[in-house]
Amino acid sequence: MKFFIDTANLEQIKEAQDMGVLDGVTTNPSLMAKEGIKGQDNILKHYVDICNIVTGDVSAEVISTDFDGIIREGEALAELHPQIVVKVPMIKDGIKAIKYFSEKGIKTNCTLVFSAGQDLLAAKEGATYVSPFIGRLDDVSTDGLSLIEDIRIIYDNYGYETQILAASVRHPMHIIDCAKIGADVATCPLSAITALLKHPLTDSGLATFLADAKK
Ligand code: G3P
Repeated sequence: MKFFIDTANLEQIKEAQDMGVLDGVTTNPSLMAKEGIKGQDNILKHYVDICNIVTGDVSAEVISTDFDGIIREGEALAELHPQIVVKVPMIKDGIKAIKYFSEKGIKTNCTLVFSAGQDLLAAKEGATYVSPFIGRLDDVSTDGLSLIEDIRIIYDNYGYETQILAASVRHPMHIIDCAKIGADVATCPLSAITALLKHPLTDSGLATFLADAKK
């Protein structure tokens, strides 16, 4: 399973890249705002800065909601850097735009996906990635992981090449369960990735070995 980091924070992206586990980055307008990135020129520069840190795909989200606007914005984003993936919301014009981008060889990530039907549409239109938000489903008492299971079955039934990019991942068990189900990618906060390192028996075992080494 590929690990993406879900942030626009350059320090965290560098830290994950230095760990050697990073396969890509996802951003969204809320994550950009959290880093204080404002103004079109600064936003575009920030995407390029991210691409220069990592070697994998970097999702950059459009904010238009009409077909022409999504195409205009998406083409400009795709021109920025070969690693850019155009992130498009799961709306009617978004789906049309994903088909257009797919036919032009521009990679896409269909975002704000919360149902198997939405995932099926995104795959039929040729999305490169589909982003089911598992944490936000959990937030409303709906099992986010069972959506990942449903999509895996549907995509495998028909051989869809769209990659399941589990998003809104909140903790390490989300990552482990996504890997068990067979998600292609999990995009996670840095804290969820580093939490995978932790085990009290590792810490106590290491302390014992280091103490014994001095004897
Ligand atoms: O990748 C989507 C993600 O940024 C949303 O996460 O925690 O705001 O639901 P969250």
